[in-house]
Amino acid sequence: LYFTEIKDFANLEKKVEEKLGINEVLIVPCNLEHSNLIREIGRVAANYLRRLLRTGDIIAITGGYTMSQVAEMMPFCDERYENTIVVPGRGGLGEEVDIQANTIAASIAKKIGGKYYLLQVPDNLKVENISLIKDEPSIQKTLNILGKANILVHGVGNAAEMSARRGMDQSEIDDILSKGAIGEAFGYYCNLDGEIVYSTPSIGLSLEEVENIGTVIAVAGGEKKAEAIKSIISPKYQDVLITDEETARRIISL
Ligand code: BG6
Repeated sequence: LYFTEIKDFANLEKKVEEKLGINEVLIVPCNLEHSNLIREIGRVAANYLRRLLRTGDIIAITGGYTMSQVAEMMPFCDERYENTIVVPGRGGLGEEVDIQANTIAASIAKKIGGKYYLLQVPDNLKVENISLIKDEPSIQKTLNILGKANILVHGVGNAAEMSARRGMDQSEIDDILSKGAIGEAFGYYCNLDGEIVYSTPSIGLSLEEVENIGTVIAVAGGEKKAEAIKSIISPKYQDVLITDEETARRIISL
């Protein structure tokens, strides 16, 4: 069991909203050890998603520990959302199974009584294989659904950690980092000014599609995430950020 402080973060939330130029920031208190902090971010995000849910929604999600906590903390819904679909935003086989987008999509769909589609493709594809794989009917079906997503919930990674976690060669990692990569989300790596400096060859949401998604929610907090968040979050794509107090303070100081 853990307890969270009751604190009024309205002021701090407003400052982060202004700094990042997005509509809404939700902050959880920081008096928690790392895994409980991520769990708390997951809980707030799950409840946010629960309130947002309407039948017929198509929810795209990504992988990662934070997103796995969103799935874990998602309450079972009495009302069953049979016409609601949860779908991975990008191929991501290769990560630990518990934190793969496919696993998370299935788990959220079960909690809300909805359907899920899978995207059974690795993240780091050989460029020449991409169009071949995209032509597979089962993949096409998922990509069609993904193109109609109206909600996206995604994690934000630290570029150095994510490139290592995705099993890239040291020379590739050095190359990405030398280009100034600080943060990563759904395969796109950005520098501190928010410019994309690299993207992993895979299949899934394009940036144009992300731009057209009605509600995009980013979930990220804990050590080493402030710079990554600052580099990734842009009013062009995101609407909501759920993070923690310390990370929020670091974001406004950047
Ligand atoms: C990945 C997502 O699986 O997890 C990324 O595809 C995200 O978009 C990353 O950056 C974040 O991971 P975590 O484990 O720090 O929540």
